Amino acid sequence: MTKKYLADTYRLTTAQETRSHYQKWAASYNEEVGEHGYATPARVAEALWATMPEPQTPILDFGCGTGLSGVALHAAGFRVIDGLDPTPKMLEGAAATGVYRTLSGFDIADPDPLTPESYKVMTAIGVIGAGAAPPQTFDLLMNALPKGGYLGFSFNDHTLADPAYTVRLKEWLDMGAARLLFREHGPHLPGLDLKSDVYIIEKT
Ligand SMILES: C[S@@+](CC[C@H](N)C(=O)[O-])C[C@H]1O[C@@H](n2cnc3c(N)ncnc32)[C@H](O)[C@@H]1O
Repeated sequence: MTKKYLADTYRLTTAQETRSHYQKWAASYNEEVGEHGYATPARVAEALWATMPEPQTPILDFGCGTGLSGVALHAAGFRVIDGLDPTPKMLEGAAATGVYRTLSGFDIADPDPLTPESYKVMTAIGVIGAGAAPPQTFDLLMNALPKGGYLGFSFNDHTLADPAYTVRLKEWLDMGAARLLFREHGPHLPGLDLKSDVYIIEKT
């Protein structure tokens, strides 16, 4: 029987633990999340397309993992998708999808792996939250966006329960530094009755 990793995900504490967890999970990630009907990638991709139906606009799929998010973006209509992820074995899965223009890794300990204003649109699908990237990743992405740029992302129920994450979003919105274009609570891993909020925000 294939080892299951999903339950351990929500117990990770350090960046190195997180990277090694995804290194081990990479080979069976698609199968395990697929068993539970992983729905968030398609929800973010469709909401982003509804906001910005521009097939040729380059998108940075931050935390692209094995590429389920890129496949969903491609299915929604986007054709220029670059993937970035700190876990080499997850990136091997992304390469196999064939939907990415480029794929790159970075050191998970690097506090600032992004080149400012290099993408007008970024996604972080299933990336920021318990078991993956920390709350400050939200600021990292927003700081790297140009004004008028879009971020499509999700917070699952575990993440929504931890104010450390939601406060990052609230601060950007309250300061008037970002505008909420779309928010919907819906299925994340329906087989586990887990939901997520999907958001599209614009940097103002
Ligand atoms: C649950 S997977 C989501 C992957 C993909 N976006 C999807 O929807 O299937 C989380 C991904 O976040 C990556 N990750 C973990 N910590 C991260 C960090 N600090 N910054 C960026 N990505 C991170 C992991 O390597 C993993 O591929």
